Amino acid sequence: MSLSITLTVNDVQRTVELEDPRVTLLDLLRERLDLTGTKKGCDRGQCGACTVLVNGRRINSCLTLAASQDGSEVLTIEGLAVGDSCHPVQAAFIAHDAFQCGFCTPGQIMSAVGLIQEGQAGDDPERVREGMSGNLCRCGAYRGITEAVLDAQRSLDQASQKEAA
Ligand code: FES
Ligand code: FES
Repeated sequence: MSLSITLTVNDVQRTVELEDPRVTLLDLLRERLDLTGTKKGCDRGQCGACTVLVNGRRINSCLTLAASQDGSEVLTIEGLAVGDSCHPVQAAFIAHDAFQCGFCTPGQIMSAVGLIQEGQAGDDPERVREGMSGNLCRCGAYRGITEAVLDAQRSLDQASQKEAA
C-alpha cells in the first residue's frame, strides 16, 4: 500500500510517496529528504537527538509516523539559519561551547528553540534544565547548553523589546 503525503519542511512544500505507512518522520527526513542534520540516537524516544518542531511544537521525530503529519509544518536544524546568519540559539551554542562531539546538538538546539517559543525558558537555570531534560548529551555539555539557552533567551527578549519600541 502506498500513500502520498505533503508536508512543508523548512518553508518548502514537499510531497512524498510512502511505500510503507509505518515510516517515521525521522526516517522520512533523513532518508527521503536528505535532511541528515536531525540525528537518530536511540530511535525509541529516549535521547532527544531527533527533536524537530512540528507546527511550532517540539517532538521526537523517531516516535512520529510521517503519515500522521500530512499537512504539517516541520522545522529542522537545516531551516534555522537565515543565509549566512546563525539563528540566535545556534550562535549562543557556539559562544558557550555547548557541545563536544556535536551528535546531540541539532536536537538540543531545536529543543531550545521550542522551549523559548513556548515561553518556558525564563531566566532560571533550573527551569531550563528541566525543560531540556528530554535531550541527553553523552559528552556532558549540560553546563554550556544551559548557559546557551539562557543567553539566547535574553538576546531574543532584547530583540523583541527593540522591535516593540
Ligand atoms: S532518536 Fe528519537 S529520542 Fe532518541
Ligand atoms: S555533544 Fe556529544 S553527545 Fe552532546
